[in-house]
Amino acid sequence: MDIFCIRGGTPLHGRIALHGAKNAALPLLAATLATGARCELHDCPDISDVTAACAILRHLGCAVEQHGGIVAVDAGSACRSDIPAELMRKMRAAVLFLGPLLARFGTAELSLPGGCVLGARPIDLHLRGLRRMGAEITLDGEHISARTDGLHGCTVALPLPSVGATENLILAALGCRGTLTLCNAAREPEIADLQCYLRKLGADISGAGTSTVTVGGFRPRPFVEHTIMPDRIVAATILCAAAACGGEVELQDVDPAHFSTVLDSLSEAGCAIITAASAVRLTSDGQLTAPRPVVTQPYPGFPTDAQPPLMAACLRAKGTTVFTENIFTNRYRHAEEFRRLGAAVSIEGRVAYVTGVERLTGAPLTASDLRGGAALVIAGLLAQGTAYIGRREYIDRGYEDIVRDLRALGARIKG
Ligand code: UD1
Repeated sequence: MDIFCIRGGTPLHGRIALHGAKNAALPLLAATLATGARCELHDCPDISDVTAACAILRHLGCAVEQHGGIVAVDAGSACRSDIPAELMRKMRAAVLFLGPLLARFGTAELSLPGGCVLGARPIDLHLRGLRRMGAEITLDGEHISARTDGLHGCTVALPLPSVGATENLILAALGCRGTLTLCNAAREPEIADLQCYLRKLGADISGAGTSTVTVGGFRPRPFVEHTIMPDRIVAATILCAAAACGGEVELQDVDPAHFSTVLDSLSEAGCAIITAASAVRLTSDGQLTAPRPVVTQPYPGFPTDAQPPLMAACLRAKGTTVFTENIFTNRYRHAEEFRRLGAAVSIEGRVAYVTGVERLTGAPLTASDLRGGAALVIAGLLAQGTAYIGRREYIDRGYEDIVRDLRALGARIKG
């Protein structure tokens, strides 16, 4: 079915193991290209963004096999350095192939990436950093043409801690002479996972997870295996759903520290939360109270990707929850859809005010981006009657099977 059909009103109960993180898997897949190695990634989510990354690797000449959560890539046969527009358009993270292409071949021909529309999403920081490392890059309309006679070590200070720029520059540095020192780097856990993988591949890299990352030297190894870290945004989504619907849900094989800010908000809203080293249990009576203002920030602040699911969880919470979105300029499109269910949400620039209502009523809704789409699913679970969510392809970009997971917890959802 192209749409999800949800009959709300049931509490959620049960245990769930999470798949590997999309935002870790995509840079890891791009990293495989930088080497001639054979790589095996475990717990790789079966989502359309991973399929798109694999299609790019195949186009470039790599042998790629996907089966049962394992993606095996043999990058030894990579033989071309162009990526056609139709592959670039599939996702924003396609731009992460620019650094590896320069590292491996010294040349890259591609176009501006597509992906969820969350406001302007420039790549100027990626290009500026690569130029500083010795790449000549021209941008002609949508087309990016890059070449280098050899990347060199240097210090790059990012004006803001862009996740993608941090990853692209780290990956380009695998092919550079000397040491790259990256200042004001993004500190997301997915970047620490990338470092862990690159070390296995033979890279001399340190500092990931802090603001200063250094990459100096790379002695490729022929075969590497890596298990991708669990998806903290999927974890946050499931917990927001359970908080709003009521019930008791346990997530296994997660690192609660990776989404502690989300847990803090849910706890303020009235949920009982117990964490262990690699598990979290949330209990909720479904009667939430508005948590303190939620302000999205680069990690370790509140993640912008968890803003839509938490907003959905607050639609019936007593009082007014205030959200400030600091990362993207247009990330409240889910709020317009919430209003169709009877929600009281108003937007003033970067700030959204959500005043809890007694009752939401099912209606046809349309997803317009990945996490906003997941938030509509949560809102549908809260509504009385039937809600329909169209354009599920956005949700499939980052959730392996949200219907399977929610049904396993007792939700009445089909799709
Ligand atoms: C990554 C995540 C995405 C998450 C986001 C912020 C992946 C595959 N995607 O996206 O899920 O929402 O981090 O946590 O990991 N910016 C510039 N110039 C640049 C690059 C970024 O101005 O060259 C701006 C962006 O427009 C945005 C902000 O920096 O306003 C953050 O973007 P960035 O951290 O780069 O996000 P992505 O890597 O695209």
